[in-house]
Amino acid sequence: MSAAVAAVVLAAGRGTRFRSQTAKVLHRAAGRSLLGHVLAAVEPLGLAGTVVVVGHQADEVAAEARSSGLDALSTVVQTEQRGTGHAVQVALGALGDDVEQVLVLPGDTPLLTSATLAELLAAGAGAAGGSGAAGALLTAVLDDAHGYGRVVRGPDGQVLAVVEQRDASAEQLEIGEINAGMYLLDRAALERAVGRLRPDNAQGELYLTDVVADLAGSGRPLRAVVTDIAEVAGVNDRAQLADAAAVLRRRHLDHLLREVGVTITDPATTYLDVDVEVGRDSVIAPGVVLEAGTRIGEQVTIGPGCHLTGCVVGDGASVHSTRAVEAEIGPGASVGPFTHLRPGTRLGAATKVGAFVETKNLALGEGSKVPHLAYLGDATVGERVNVACGVITVNYDGAAKHHTTIDDGAFVGCDTMLVAPVTIGAGGYTAAGSTITEDVPPGALAIARARQTTKDGWAERRRGAS
Ligand code: UD1
Ligand code: CA
Repeated sequence: MSAAVAAVVLAAGRGTRFRSQTAKVLHRAAGRSLLGHVLAAVEPLGLAGTVVVVGHQADEVAAEARSSGLDALSTVVQTEQRGTGHAVQVALGALGDDVEQVLVLPGDTPLLTSATLAELLAAGAGAAGGSGAAGALLTAVLDDAHGYGRVVRGPDGQVLAVVEQRDASAEQLEIGEINAGMYLLDRAALERAVGRLRPDNAQGELYLTDVVADLAGSGRPLRAVVTDIAEVAGVNDRAQLADAAAVLRRRHLDHLLREVGVTITDPATTYLDVDVEVGRDSVIAPGVVLEAGTRIGEQVTIGPGCHLTGCVVGDGASVHSTRAVEAEIGPGASVGPFTHLRPGTRLGAATKVGAFVETKNLALGEGSKVPHLAYLGDATVGERVNVACGVITVNYDGAAKHHTTIDDGAFVGCDTMLVAPVTIGAGGYTAAGSTITEDVPPGALAIARARQTTKDGWAERRRGAS
């Protein structure tokens, strides 16, 4: 049987180089926090447990860790951030007794994939126990290794040490192989080695990286797994955050293009969070932003300039130049251009909501149409209703919101004010320009406007008077 492995994710640092009030690992790339990306890569490994070390903004970071939904996750607080080695010391106390190997990961490496972690686990497998390699670490070879710890190897290729940028000699700074900060380590050997760490370095911290030389010195050097920097790049400032977000988005678009079968006209101007789903044969035009778990069905057209957050779009719908938040757009519906769907909007199948229409808390029944220039808020609209141009639900009296109900087959004439609470019965009509303050019975026509007065010859008389 393979050894029980637990992950330790280091997420206590502030991230000074971000120049932010918010802890670095809470910053988001492609719709997910940096920490969330790391935990998402850990999840499929099915480890015995995961300990997240929190410190700076401990409560918020712990809550973010829990929101990943990872099984057997716990958090420990590193009250003072005295370095990555110290963070691991704090975490070791929180590991279950049965854990034999520890997968140590930084919380700021969002490009990490489960496949790369699986390679690290495989390389370190069998390292548990009292002799031989004490585990493995991930490395990458870079043209510009600036900022990373460098991997120092002996003449036989053995990993001897990791030297931090700020502590490296001129000769060591020439080394192109960097430490990714991800290790699989024998627990007992790690416990002994972190107990011996000293803060005798440029930053006065307890460096986890010093464990590498300690283990090599005691005859248990780590194996190195050389991987691609595109997998393990750390995010230490906002320029690197932007770069990482671009890589994450592009990976997700590639998955949709190649594996799902979505047409994306211009990936360079298409911004999708990693949790956005799009169905086969849908088309996404340039200049589209889809966020927060938005789900797009099959054969949908998302036209240029759409920005959808937390929305669901049914099969065969088409949406153009629309801003929508927490809205549902039914199958075959047509929305836009220049439409604003606010939270609680549910558009039924084959509905049409057109230009300059704003909706909020609206249930619009199948086949109903709101083609132009309207505000429908706090309203329930039945099937096959026609809401003509310029209709407004007057839902707010300055103190409270009120509901409007429009039943099946009704026709709401142009420029009708529906002063809520009010109901238009099935098949009822309102005359253009009406201000409706009382319920309209099914099948009735309500006219609520002043009768027209026409004064013949008025203009001529006015001119004569001057
Ligand atoms: C670290 C490595 C470096 C490696 C790089 C890879 C050390 C000393 N250096 O450097 O060799 O090339 O990662 O990306 O380990 N953290 C804590 N508590 C602390 C300090 C840090 O939890 O006391 C956390 C941070 O929140 C962060 C992670 O550890 O998520 C790494 O810390 P960071 O300061 O980013 O280390 P680097 O300087 O990038
Ligand atoms: Ca880092």
